[in-house]
Amino acid sequence: MKSIDVIGVVGAGAMGRGIAQIAAQAGIRVRLFDVQPQAVDSARESLQAVWRRLVDKGRMSVEDAEASLERVAPCSDMQELADVDLVVEAIVERLDVKCDLFAKLEGIVGPDCILASNTSSLSITAIAAACKNPGRVVGYHFFNPVPLMKVVEVIDGARSEARHGDALMALARRMGHTPVRAKDMPGFIVNHGGRGMNIEGLKTAQECVAPFHVIDAIMREQAGFRMGPFELMDLTGLDVSHPVMESIYQQFYDEPRFRPSPITALRVAGGILGRKTGEGFYRYAEGQKVVEQEAAAPAYPEGLSVWIAPYHSAGHRRAAALLREMGVEPATSEQPPRDALIVVTPYGEDTASVVAEYQLDGSRTVALDTFFGLEAGKRRVIMCSAATAPRWRDAAHALFARDGTPVSVIADSAGFVGQRIVATIINVACDIAQQGVATPEDVDLAISLGLGYPGGGPLSLGDSLGAAQLLDVLRGMQRTTGDMRYRSSLWLQRRVQLGMSLRDVPATAEN
Ligand code: NAI
Repeated sequence: MKSIDVIGVVGAGAMGRGIAQIAAQAGIRVRLFDVQPQAVDSARESLQAVWRRLVDKGRMSVEDAEASLERVAPCSDMQELADVDLVVEAIVERLDVKCDLFAKLEGIVGPDCILASNTSSLSITAIAAACKNPGRVVGYHFFNPVPLMKVVEVIDGARSEARHGDALMALARRMGHTPVRAKDMPGFIVNHGGRGMNIEGLKTAQECVAPFHVIDAIMREQAGFRMGPFELMDLTGLDVSHPVMESIYQQFYDEPRFRPSPITALRVAGGILGRKTGEGFYRYAEGQKVVEQEAAAPAYPEGLSVWIAPYHSAGHRRAAALLREMGVEPATSEQPPRDALIVVTPYGEDTASVVAEYQLDGSRTVALDTFFGLEAGKRRVIMCSAATAPRWRDAAHALFARDGTPVSVIADSAGFVGQRIVATIINVACDIAQQGVATPEDVDLAISLGLGYPGGGPLSLGDSLGAAQLLDVLRGMQRTTGDMRYRSSLWLQRRVQLGMSLRDVPATAEN
């Protein structure tokens, strides 16, 4: 495999300097070039400051810091890249400018030099089309901030030679990063896999299921994510996330799973971008999110009679076990007794559909989300139909908060909040595997490291939640809404049909 000892980094902005940092720290010599010479100077100064801080914290020796800085050579002319083994491009995100740069680089570097692009949204195949030797062009997609985000996507364009991608995989490991290998498809792995959370969160909000902060709280405290979709979009800024949503939707030719939301379009138009403008889905005072206090649960109506509908067996079992733990014995009659709270536990369906299908008294019926388990302390979610009377809603709220666990009360929704967003995330990840964008292992690695999702990545999370149950959720959502965005990926469907793990790869002729 080609050995990489000297690299050129073109573009000395946030990404270029991060790439230069991890390369120099790994003992690789770097030539740093930018059209703006002052960008190179300021990059070198900022690297010096970073290394000084690492020395101060005792995480780097003075000698290593000095040697690292010496390895980063500022260039004022692109000709100085003539003898490098690899160029990593991290310039402005425009196809015409990148194509122009790559064509120029081909006239400067040697015939064996690899040309890599750090693009996050452009096609590697399209960038390579500008080159005489497109086989040497590979994607090398790092994440911001590069030294802390330890994953990098190595992307093979339609004409990239595999050996060059192999060399970049090895180099990433040398620099202490985890490389994953992806095919050139819109969004590669991480930005493709990140579609589910924001888009389904926005759809849920658009249906007035719950306010933004409630959706976020459910994603954190019920589904176990570090952040909910609205917190995440506020952090990234809608000026960045909204165009990515539109671009990926268009690049997949109006795939309904990726349909963007008018909510973000409106907010972008209004300049309500997130933390950076002091107001987004939340308001920020002195950089801190203004959080609303949650209302206390209503008083528990002593002597409440509760009937749990038996139609959804796993949900029924979980709900009944919880009630017994809390000292409430559910009624066991076949039909709900008069004047009992009716609890239904659907997967993927809304309360109204269950009420209609089983001809229940809608005013007394409340749905409980049992999908993620009901252990004490983990946020519980109850859902009301338009017909649920406030008295029964409050009774259900008090009942499920009886052990001090927080309860969110939401409006009717096919798949509550957690079920629909998590099933969407896993379904999108399954489809990335189905399209052969990456191996299941790399899908999980890329998404857990790049997006910080729990459970070891979406496919592993799907296995632990139960692939068959996820398929039920998706089918319930599609049946209830008629929306093709909820159709299940063939990857998921087939693995459920065959009783396989979502991480299993198809057996090939060789094995
Ligand atoms: P930046 O704006 O901080 O830096 C870009 C630098 O490139 C500037 O210093 C600019 O002077 C220089 N430049 C522009 N055109 C040039 C040319 N023709 N030749 C040489 N230098 C040129 O941008 P940032 O954030 O570092 O992004 C760079 C690339 O990395 C983009 O392609 C972006 O999509 C990609 N990327 C960015 C991420 C981020 O979070 N900022 C994450 C992953 C990828």
